[in-house]
Amino acid sequence: MKKYDTYRVFTPAQPAKLTFIDREIVNEQLVDALRTPGMQIVVYGYSGSGKTTLLTNKINQLYESYIPSQCTKGTTIDQLKLEAFDYLDRYYTTELNENVSNGISASLKSRYAEIKSESKKQEGKTIKRIVPIQLSDQRLAEFVGEAKCCWKIEDFHKVESDDKERLAQLMKVFMDSSMNYPTTKIIAIGAVGTGKEVVAYDKEMSNRLSEIPVPLMSLDELEMIIEKGEFLLNVKFLKEVKNRVIVYSSGLGAVCHQLCLSMCINNGIYETVEETHTFTDSDLDKAIDNYLQKNSSSLKSSYDKATKITKGTVYGIKPILKAILSLTKEKKKDELTPFEIHTEVQKENPTYPLNTVRLYLNQLISAERAEILRYNKDADVYFFSNPFFKAFTELSFSKDFKPSKTDITRISADEIKAYLDAKKDMDEFLSM
Ligand SMILES: Nc1ncnc2c1ncn2[C@@H]1O[C@H](COP(=O)(O)OP(=O)(O)OP(=O)(O)O)[C@@H](O)[C@H]1O
Ligand SMILES: [Mg+2]
Repeated sequence: MKKYDTYRVFTPAQPAKLTFIDREIVNEQLVDALRTPGMQIVVYGYSGSGKTTLLTNKINQLYESYIPSQCTKGTTIDQLKLEAFDYLDRYYTTELNENVSNGISASLKSRYAEIKSESKKQEGKTIKRIVPIQLSDQRLAEFVGEAKCCWKIEDFHKVESDDKERLAQLMKVFMDSSMNYPTTKIIAIGAVGTGKEVVAYDKEMSNRLSEIPVPLMSLDELEMIIEKGEFLLNVKFLKEVKNRVIVYSSGLGAVCHQLCLSMCINNGIYETVEETHTFTDSDLDKAIDNYLQKNSSSLKSSYDKATKITKGTVYGIKPILKAILSLTKEKKKDELTPFEIHTEVQKENPTYPLNTVRLYLNQLISAERAEILRYNKDADVYFFSNPFFKAFTELSFSKDFKPSKTDITRISADEIKAYLDAKKDMDEFLSM
């Protein structure tokens, strides 16, 4: 029997490889876009919906190599260009990858070396590196193309607006260079709602840009992850346990991987076992406790982000969350319209305007406010994005609550289960 390392099977903090499942719903569109010469790509979706995993697996299937770039708040296009240029060093000068290096013309290699020395001259002179004039967008596209790479840019929503426009221009240059380099492309990954941004800056891009939404993982997809894990490790999760894991995950692969991983590790299963091991409800309860303990600080920082007071705020965001919580208790339903929420908010804040409620609700579903809520467009209703957020928010409103590790672990599995039991129509819940 082949043995697998449990940490490589269940990967809550890494792109899945062994348990990777194809996302049928977007697979065709993505593969098609990756194969179409000149087609630039924007992939977007909720945090944790599986964008990085999907792209990493697909690019590895279709490309020899790619340039990985990661944006943080305030990253500029110039920084990205320099980073990509530096990354290419492995093909142009150090020749770490001979296969690729051998295919690159000597003249282009010497051009690369020239720019590199130009760039080196600046070292130590300025705090911020400047892009050498010779490193035009066209030249960079050529370097990337010759190295048979594509360029994956993560979290492009974090760049400033002006630089988003520059990104659109850069994509256009890459698109134009596809005559000579058919595989060259930029794949930008962003949060929900960022897909349209690139086109907004440059209408001409609309036909040459494939916008691919990655939805939250469906119940079937989450089940498939668990089943792959069961097979690889020779373990079994009872049907009830499996269902609970799927529902707790609320469409997020990371939660699913984390709960399964904890159950294995708590039982000393570090690799594939000889004799099938079965997990029961009590194993899951313990895994949930572990989850809350491990994530208490990130839950708290998400909550702080969601409720942060911005400049010029007259009406806070907390009354909205409070209203949602009391309505879910009172009406025993989790999905609420802006009107219902507004009516409830007004009980304590009579002048609170409906428009402000709508404005904040829209913010609360965005990355800017940690996606603490989700929105169902068809029914115009809002609800907590996962039971852990809901429980945490509830605790934060209870008297004397100072969010701390011990407080968060007080959220009982029963409380969360009650929330989940109320939520029957999961597929609607998961749709974007
Ligand atoms: N197709 C998949 N098959 C199996 N597991 C997956 C799949 N997609 C995602 N996962 C798991 O879900 C978790 C989150 O995935 P990933 O990091 O790719 O999401 P993301 O959308 O890039 O998140 P973020 O917006 O935070 O960058 C990881 O633990 C990953 O292993
Ligand atoms: Mg990611």
